[in-house]
Amino acid sequence: MSANLDATNNDVISRNIIRDMGNGVLVIDKANRIISFVNDSAAKILDKTKEEMIGQKFAACFFEYEENDAFNDCVNKAIYESDVSHKMMTPYYTGKETKTLYVTSSYTKDDNGKPVGVVLILDDITEKAQLQERLIKNQLGTIMMMAELVESRDGNTGGHIKRTAEYVKIIAQQLFDDKKFPEEIDDKFLNDITTAAPLHDVGKISVSDAILNKPGRLTDEEFAIMKSHAAVGRKLLKDAVEATEHSSFLDTAIDMAGAHHEWWNGRGYPDGISGDKIPLSARIMAIADVFDALVSKRVYKPGMPLEKAYAIIREETGTHFDPVCVEAFFKAQEKIERVLKSHADD
Ligand SMILES: [Fe+2]
Repeated sequence: MSANLDATNNDVISRNIIRDMGNGVLVIDKANRIISFVNDSAAKILDKTKEEMIGQKFAACFFEYEENDAFNDCVNKAIYESDVSHKMMTPYYTGKETKTLYVTSSYTKDDNGKPVGVVLILDDITEKAQLQERLIKNQLGTIMMMAELVESRDGNTGGHIKRTAEYVKIIAQQLFDDKKFPEEIDDKFLNDITTAAPLHDVGKISVSDAILNKPGRLTDEEFAIMKSHAAVGRKLLKDAVEATEHSSFLDTAIDMAGAHHEWWNGRGYPDGISGDKIPLSARIMAIADVFDALVSKRVYKPGMPLEKAYAIIREETGTHFDPVCVEAFFKAQEKIERVLKSHADD
């Protein structure tokens, strides 16, 4: 039996726990930004000795590598806004390697309740982040393979997937340049929408070849099965998200697969949602998808002349398509045509 834990020893116990814990602990004085406490784990994680840090100004300690701008921003945020707790993920460069740190900040108060010190808890999640990246890459590879499989069954040669991904990138970039939807479009959006675009028809995996490649008109029943590909694709991608770690591009893929056949006026499928209730990524995808389907040759039809396809897009603006996205499409028309030429099917 160990010695009894005496309440009067609580201070010592707390200090020992902090000293020995696996997470790094760093305490910074709010007023003069001097580091007042560092435990062993923080020294190990940051690859600096305690002597190099304790008693030093925070700014003087971590500004030697510009790779650590994000880490410094993160800590400065915790210092400036020291009356709230923050949870932040940041890369940290030791001079030899780049780690991924999860930083949780809290604060200590004086007797008057004023924050006087910032407490940073550092968790080195490098291995976990690498594992997650590998998982997402594998997952992406598998889903892309499914998308290619779908496209090959659809009687295409891979051109539709490549072209539509390029079109959505061009339209989204044009919207970004024109400062449209500033709340939604940023670098991450541009990245995610381009990566996710090839998955928009992944639900066609559940549609039979007989329907997918039928040269004539589809019966009502066949058309209903064909239409199910949007909801099926959304479900499939949602299941993929649940089975693995979260990734933002998959959320975009879910939106695009599930809503790329919705119409601006609510007459589309599967949900009949309208206007900006349709995710922006899907509104952009709708134009790219229809345009490419119109001008491409299929087993059951020749490719339509460009001008005729443009006329249809114009005609369906405000009914089928979001007018702002159509405007961006036409502003970027030259770039669109360049893609069409460079990724032609024949
Ligand atoms: Fe589709």
